[in-house]
Amino acid sequence: MGILLGLVIAAAFFAWARHQQTKKVSRAYPPGPKPLPFVGNILDLTAIELWMRATSWANQFGEIVYIHVFGQGLVFLNSYEVTVELMEKRGAIYSDKPAFVMAGELCGCDNMVAFTRYGDKSRRQRRLMTQALNPTAIRTYQPLLEIETHTLLRAIATDPKNYLNYIRRYAGGLTLLVIYGYQVKSENDPSLALATECVDILSNQIASGGGIWPVDIFPALQHLPSWLPGAGFKAKAATWKAKMEEFADKPYEALKQRMLDGTALSCFCSTLLEEAGDKIDSERDFDIRWTANSMYSASLDTTITVVQHFILTMIQFPEMMQRAQEEIESVVGHGRLPTFTDRPSLPFVEALMSELLRWSVAVPLGLPHRLMEDDVYNGMFLPKGTLVFANVWKMLRNPEVYPNPEVFSPERFMEDVDEVTAKRRDPRNYVFGFGRRRCPGMHLIEQSLWIVMTSMISSFDITRAKDAAGNAVEPVVVFENAVFRQPNPFECDIRLRSEQSERLVMGSAA
Ligand code: HEM
Repeated sequence: MGILLGLVIAAAFFAWARHQQTKKVSRAYPPGPKPLPFVGNILDLTAIELWMRATSWANQFGEIVYIHVFGQGLVFLNSYEVTVELMEKRGAIYSDKPAFVMAGELCGCDNMVAFTRYGDKSRRQRRLMTQALNPTAIRTYQPLLEIETHTLLRAIATDPKNYLNYIRRYAGGLTLLVIYGYQVKSENDPSLALATECVDILSNQIASGGGIWPVDIFPALQHLPSWLPGAGFKAKAATWKAKMEEFADKPYEALKQRMLDGTALSCFCSTLLEEAGDKIDSERDFDIRWTANSMYSASLDTTITVVQHFILTMIQFPEMMQRAQEEIESVVGHGRLPTFTDRPSLPFVEALMSELLRWSVAVPLGLPHRLMEDDVYNGMFLPKGTLVFANVWKMLRNPEVYPNPEVFSPERFMEDVDEVTAKRRDPRNYVFGFGRRRCPGMHLIEQSLWIVMTSMISSFDITRAKDAAGNAVEPVVVFENAVFRQPNPFECDIRLRSEQSERLVMGSAA
């Protein structure tokens, strides 16, 4: 224990001294809550809804806020303008990812795209993802999205209480099919169970508290023997690393086997593997394996979160659901389920989806980027190595862009505005992040969310759950996830709207 304490103090002193030294060069850091000596703002951080805390700092200190923890700088960008200026226009130095010792080296996540340092590897991986997930490629997935959505509708209609399991199956099943050509047969599928377990470990264990572990601040701790008190994180990391490797290897190796057997369905990995042929080198194999895994893992919680928020808003704003149902009925009629061809004729549903994305903000602080060089913005000094967070939560509640931002109002997106204003207001330009690390899955989820939302509105009434006496029960909405604004499971009542809906849903193509 003595050695550990000594190491911690030495390493902490080193980090703090480095911070002090940089401060002497220029004291004009962006404003922020006053740090304590040595430990900095460690007591200001929170693992739950950090975006709310960051927003109260934004209200107090302005569009750019700086804090530090033992000398590790964290910057929160609170306006669209400053975020575009830094993360996009200065993307050459704002596109790196933090070198987390715990998540990256010890847990093996540095192979995943979202953790990959900016450079050749990240550029190769992003090229592969663009190939699979660009708008043209996504159009070819539309029939698949419709089929998967029909499966989701049937499952919810049959067993509405377990709706969350079916949404998870939809989110995972879709990417498993598109990426690995694997068809999920039930919500108990082992591939889905492994993915759910790993994504939970990632977001609620490894990335909990912003992903910063003591060993990230004091890397020397990684050399402690695992048996030493206080070094328990090493055993955890070893277990989690094995899981992450299993998560990347299992579906990929299973697909390779299906290709050998001649039973593989065409998908992202099979196309790339066929292209590479027998001459595939280890770098290409590694890139395909981990890019596929990254898309799979990044699609799960994000998709589930937005669909949960969709259900919540339908419960909270029944008049919106009714108006959307009327619009869909007037275009689609009563004899079929909606399809993508209906999209241009459904302006209210379109506005509803935009407001849902603005309102829910699935990843409210985005994922941190790491500043690769010292930088100066408006006379404020930003040291190399600072972790940069885009405070999307704050930006999507800017009253100058969204009057009465606390009101859920799809109508705000139905006004006729010029192109520049429309771009500035479109939540899609915020919720998927900024710059060179922007979400590569955004075109897929944009289509996927639309078809799920429209089909559910057309087929179901979604209301508050009822207690034994038949009284409506207010859903209990709690956010505990460290990275995603994902509500804890809540109860609701989802039922088919009519016999006609039942015929359409239960008879829809399997
Ligand atoms: C509503 C759903 C989604 C939201 C809100 C969302 C949001 C985000 C955000 C904020 C980032 C961080 C961007 C940055 O670093 O600036 C990100 C990264 C990423 N997303 Fe998404 N995402 C969603 C769905 C998806 C889907 C469906 C996929 C894959 C099929 C996906 C794949 C990824 C990957 C691989 C990254 C890492 C990119 C990199 O670091 O270069 N996401 N996403």
